[in-house]
Amino acid sequence: MPIHPAQRAAAALPTPDADAQAHSARLAQAIRSEIDAAGGAIPFARFMELALYAPGLGYYSAGATKIGEAGDFVTAPELGPVFAACVADAVAPVLRQLGPEALMLELGGGTGAFAQVALMRLMELDALPSRYLILEPSAELRQRQRARLFERLHPMLFELVEWVDGPVPHDWNGVLFANEVIDALPTTRFSIRGHEVMEQYVVLEDGRFVPQWRPADSMLLQAVRFIERRLGRELPDGYASEVLPQLPYWVQAVAGGMQRGAMLFVDYGYARGEFYADDRSDGTLRAYYRHRMHDDVLAWPGLQDITASVDFTALGEAGLSAGFDLAGYCSQASFLLGNGLAAVLSRIEQIDDDTERLRRTQEVKRLTLPGEMGERFQAMGFSRDVDFGAAFLAGDLSYRL
Ligand SMILES: C[S@@+](CC[C@H](N)C(=O)[O-])C[C@H]1O[C@@H](n2cnc3c(N)ncnc32)[C@H](O)[C@@H]1O
Repeated sequence: MPIHPAQRAAAALPTPDADAQAHSARLAQAIRSEIDAAGGAIPFARFMELALYAPGLGYYSAGATKIGEAGDFVTAPELGPVFAACVADAVAPVLRQLGPEALMLELGGGTGAFAQVALMRLMELDALPSRYLILEPSAELRQRQRARLFERLHPMLFELVEWVDGPVPHDWNGVLFANEVIDALPTTRFSIRGHEVMEQYVVLEDGRFVPQWRPADSMLLQAVRFIERRLGRELPDGYASEVLPQLPYWVQAVAGGMQRGAMLFVDYGYARGEFYADDRSDGTLRAYYRHRMHDDVLAWPGLQDITASVDFTALGEAGLSAGFDLAGYCSQASFLLGNGLAAVLSRIEQIDDDTERLRRTQEVKRLTLPGEMGERFQAMGFSRDVDFGAAFLAGDLSYRL
């Protein structure tokens, strides 16, 4: 059988073992059934949602090791304690302003590495929240978080941690934090054909998943026209990219109930002008499998992460429309430098053990160097009736939004 172009990139990936293949085949069958039931096609965003979050089968819902050296990708909190300690330094003043009843809500807690360090650092800073809530849709990751935090936190700190099934509904004061969560939201793929806006669907060809462009519905059409109006130019014929039309509703859903407090999002992405730059003509969507990045996002459903960069201008608009003020926007490197990195570095210099000192130095380099995570990752903060601006005094990028 000839290899479909979309399958070629996957052909170069390490072959999953038999169990993993069987797992992926089960999820693929569930997706095929949904495609059949929908009359032969589902939007790409729905494919991504199923591939990542289908109960018991999706990449984040099932049991595989995803995050860390043994998984498919490494995140900032997984590199070591530096990232979470600096974030704790940044949000501690807000928690203090809010008083002892303040909550901290972490979205998508990963392996629990962030919560572990953040809670310990907040205790050192005398700025512990009354409860540390984790909203984690993946049952498997919840279990990993619980086991790790139970094992590594003092019982007094572990008692503060609570797993919640949904956002805090109303009248809460506190801090909401999310690292690399928005890039994992199911995204809509669009392209421009002539002057028409098309949406990417997934159809079946000989039982395989294949992309297909269909005319956009009015919500997507308006979202793309809005982008073009804000850019002050039309996107060229053949241009393809991603958009999250649901982002304002998502922000409203996760933070709408906050009375006073702050939100902090860290993720990879760009301001809108750069996100939709002419030379980024096929968007930002990509897959991660065993630390290899590739563009066959339809391959091996359930075994690989699928992700798209964040349009930080759209995130800024979503935060404002949810009634927050923009506290600041800067690169990850600037954010860490502005929130305690210098003190971390001097503590690292004093470490006697050469191996440990080298490891921590490498960690700081990976977090901050422009060719690593320093510039590609960015931090955006919002506030409601608190002062969070001090966390963004270094390297302001809000003029780019
Ligand atoms: C790329 S991982 C990042 C994990 C962790 N924050 C870290 O930095 O290591 C994405 C995380 O977001 C979670 N997630 C996905 N959609 C979410 C949502 N709508 N609300 C909260 N968490 C979500 C996933 O289950 C996963 O834990």
